[in-house]
Amino acid sequence: MICRIKNSILMKRKKSQSEMENILKQFKPEKKELIHILHKVQSEQGFISPSAIFEISKYLRISEGEVYGVLTFYNAFTLEPKGKHTLTICMGTACHVRGAPAVLDEFSRQLDITAGQTTEDKYFTLETVNCVGACALGPIAITDGHYHGHVTTKEVKKIIDEVKEEKGKNRK
Ligand code: FES
Repeated sequence: MICRIKNSILMKRKKSQSEMENILKQFKPEKKELIHILHKVQSEQGFISPSAIFEISKYLRISEGEVYGVLTFYNAFTLEPKGKHTLTICMGTACHVRGAPAVLDEFSRQLDITAGQTTEDKYFTLETVNCVGACALGPIAITDGHYHGHVTTKEVKKIIDEVKEEKGKNRK
């Protein structure tokens, strides 16, 4: 039994190593490629794992601390696997004064998670952001990159349902 678990861990490690090798060989081993590599890893693997940080640092010949410092500086990167769909609520000043906190609370209540968390079924990740440059449309909710303007608490269920049905993708 222990052997089988060890084998499964080793196989997963090998798979993730070869995925990383495939990503890394698309970039020159130069420090200026760090952001591009992180974006690629984030989009292909959904997050930046500790082993990815190690592989990147080895490839670029920089410290793991340096990789970590850059990836934690930007909101675009995450250290934990995200859900299949990301719901982002703008909490910038303009959205805040127009009711974003109540909208965020309603998403939180309906999904039973707080900002920064992912639902148990790994379907939704709830996030906040500070201003996306569309203040006149606040409060703003973004579902997988699609902007919903003037969102009210009453619309939260509809937005969640649209994502579940994957209808929301083409709505403007
Ligand atoms: S404050 Fe929300 S878009 Fe600017």
